[in-house]
Amino acid sequence: MPRHIVRLVLLMVAIGAVGYVAKIFFTADSFYEYGHYRGKSVAEIASDKPKYKGSEYCESCHAERFAEWSKGVHNKSDIGKVVKCEVCHGAAGERDVRGMFEHLATGVDHPNKLKLVVPTDARKLCTLCHEKMPGRPAQQPQIVVASHAGTQQCTVCHNPHSPKLNLVSTAPTPIRGDAARGKAKAAACVGCHGAEGVSVNLPGPSLAGQNAAYFIAALKAYGTGARDNPMMSAFAKGASDDDAQDLAAYFAALKCQSSLTAEKQAAAAGRATASKCIACHGADGVSSNRAWPNLVGHSKDYLVAALRAYKSGSRKGNMMAGIVKTLSDAETENVAAYYAGASCK
Ligand code: HEC
Ligand code: HEC
Ligand code: HEC
Ligand code: HEC
Ligand code: HEC
Ligand code: HEC
Repeated sequence: MPRHIVRLVLLMVAIGAVGYVAKIFFTADSFYEYGHYRGKSVAEIASDKPKYKGSEYCESCHAERFAEWSKGVHNKSDIGKVVKCEVCHGAAGERDVRGMFEHLATGVDHPNKLKLVVPTDARKLCTLCHEKMPGRPAQQPQIVVASHAGTQQCTVCHNPHSPKLNLVSTAPTPIRGDAARGKAKAAACVGCHGAEGVSVNLPGPSLAGQNAAYFIAALKAYGTGARDNPMMSAFAKGASDDDAQDLAAYFAALKCQSSLTAEKQAAAAGRATASKCIACHGADGVSSNRAWPNLVGHSKDYLVAALRAYKSGSRKGNMMAGIVKTLSDAETENVAAYYAGASCK
């Protein structure tokens, strides 16, 4: 045989030998167990337990959410009830490293290639722990979903990172203003808001009987530009903190006047929509939290305008923004008529 043929045959035998050794060496034991598959791969994947990093890990990059969460009711470490970030968002930790291709599917660790879940259906998530059911320990706060939330998402009213609503904080900050001084200062407001805080000359808000804490916050919002209104802004910018306190004390003590223009029929239709509002604004338009606005006494036009402003985003209110998102035009009109027709006590 010619020498070059011998070399070629030897080379092919050598390649074949290397291939055979490689096959024995690299093939997993369970390869032919179920045909052409690696029999143990499912068990292997299942044994790759999620690795939790702990909430502290998130603090450096998501400081704002961490701050909300750590002060919130889901972080009660004193009584051992802590709902950590990864309970809702999934594990952020590094996977076990077994082979060089192991990370391709899952990524390494968040934020390196591993994206965490953003729960979009809070109704599913929150009810895992909060839906009322027989046998669930009474210490765990529970709600009947249908009557509590209707068809709305929990995140409409609850901030998932700090879900408790402080409804019963009756006096957030004591009002130190003086109503008599407030009355004198209110002279500047009379033209638009009426002598007794009942707006007659503009389809405006009623100031009479408004919660003082909300009143001060609203005035400040015009002052800083967070709320924008060409008529109000000039007046609000000129008002000092003391002025705001005095004015709030004066107007809070006045009696509101129900709007007379409320159409009775629309008001009745609005009652159904108002069920979405009652938890916060009361059935009679008097809010349960003193820091939130009373709706009683406002005119229908003002209420409609305010709801539209939340919807368009021109007025910010994180709780209201979620609520008006699903409110149709007809519902807006009806619910406004309902609250405009509520009677002042
Ligand atoms: C080293 C900084 C860093 C740390 C630590 C970190 N994150 Fe992130 N996170 C990011 C970055 C950057 C993004 C945006 C990039 C992306 O979407 O992958 C992000 C996005 C997210 C998102 C949104 C994902 C999406 O698809 O929009 C969630 C939820 C999240 N992180 C939760 C967490 C949680 C929970 C922790 C703690 C266990 C954490 N992060 C720790 C940097 C970090
Ligand atoms: C009780 C469940 C829950 C816990 C605990 C929780 N989150 Fe969230 N998180 C959510 C939900 C639900 C959203 C979606 C926000 C929405 O719908 O308004 C979200 C949104 C986010 C987002 C924004 C994602 C985006 O694309 O907008 C980040 C970032 C985030 N969470 C980080 C954290 C961090 C960090 C922690 C811990 C300090 C944490 N979360 C704890 C439920 C939770
Ligand atoms: C893993 C279980 C779990 C999940 C998921 C969960 N929570 Fe909670 N929640 C708790 C625990 C535990 C407490 C603390 C109860 C306590 O203080 O005794 C709590 C407290 C609360 C409270 C305060 C109740 C009160 O008045 O004392 C509200 C409101 C709340 N959660 C809403 C939510 C919302 C909204 C979501 C969904 C974004 C959610 N929770 C998801 C377990 C959970
Ligand atoms: C329309 C607004 C709204 C929606 C939507 C909503 N909640 Fe609430 N939730 C409230 C208000 C207001 C309170 C306080 C009521 C009270 O103290 O009587 C509250 C209280 C709670 C409490 C504490 C109850 C207790 O007995 O201490 C839990 C838990 C809760 N909500 C869970 C949820 C869950 C889970 C969802 C989603 C399925 C949800 N909420 C949707 C407004 C809402
Ligand atoms: C030129 C007419 C005008 C004058 C004068 C005026 N306001 Fe107003 N005010 C308005 C209008 C219009 C609105 C509704 C604006 C909006 O939709 O945001 C309003 C809204 C308000 C609100 C918010 C009410 C709510 O329910 O959110 C407060 C508080 C307020 N005014 C206080 C005052 C005070 C105090 C003065 C006197 C120092 C004053 N206003 C002077 C026109 C006026
Ligand atoms: C979870 C509590 C909550 C629920 C539910 C709620 N609101 Fe509100 N609402 C608020 C808060 C808080 C503000 C103040 C926001 C701000 O400062 O702008 C507000 C403000 C308003 C205002 C502006 C009042 C003014 O004086 O300018 C109107 C109008 C209003 N809500 C109507 C409604 C209607 C109608 C519904 C039901 C469809 C509703 N709200 C449901 C909490 C709530």
